[in-house]
Amino acid sequence: MKELLYEGKAKRIYKTEDPDIVLVEYKDSATAFNGQKKAEITGKGRLNNEITSLIFLKLKEKGIDSHFIKRISETEQLVKKVTIIPLEVVVRNTAAGTLSKRLGIEEGRQLSSPIVEFYLKDDRLGDPLVTESHILEIKAATAEEINILREKALQINTVLSSFFDELGINLVDFKLEFGKDREGQILLADEISPDTCRLWDKQTNEKLDKDVFRRDLGSLTEAYETIFKRLGGHQHV
Ligand code: C5P
Repeated sequence: MKELLYEGKAKRIYKTEDPDIVLVEYKDSATAFNGQKKAEITGKGRLNNEITSLIFLKLKEKGIDSHFIKRISETEQLVKKVTIIPLEVVVRNTAAGTLSKRLGIEEGRQLSSPIVEFYLKDDRLGDPLVTESHILEIKAATAEEINILREKALQINTVLSSFFDELGINLVDFKLEFGKDREGQILLADEISPDTCRLWDKQTNEKLDKDVFRRDLGSLTEAYETIFKRLGGHQHV
């Protein structure tokens, strides 16, 4: 029996024999609006595990390290154990979602330059948007760490935007999480998948991400399967 360390909305984390490595299992659960909307979607765990693995490998090729070690089954991967920094780092290229709502900018408008935002990871508070002063006040990160997170997030955006662009996809926005390893080094962690990105087909503007589930726009697995195929992935038999 694997020893469960943590269970989140979309993933379970298990202990391994190596204290510096944990096993991540991607679940078929879909949640939105801070857990208020829920569903079980067969195949979602496999697709997110595969897509995240391909994206972390792509980033590695471009010199961006993450916690990712390797994918070991359809729904599982091994990752370096890190202590998660309690911030969600969101990068936006095109207005959508809460940015459109907050600033009254129409969805789909290209932003003049990428916007980086920080949200506090706290379900009880509903993951509020926080400023640098807020982050320093509650000691969620130091000023130096905030700069590192912003720099890394923008660097990842540059790589992923051009990568998705080549696949005919507009990377509208996405959320990153970072952690610290045993040596205190800041590493990209968590996942990068259609659950955590907005991905729009460049030709049709079709949404190929979790908004399909949030807004009841059709089949989530079909949308995620499209992303997986464009990334060069294929169904295992
Ligand atoms: O909802 P909002 O517009 O702020 O989301 C921005 C981006 O961050 C979207 O791609 C969304 O999927 C992602 N996100 C996430 N997890 C959250 C909040 C946002 O992956 N808790």
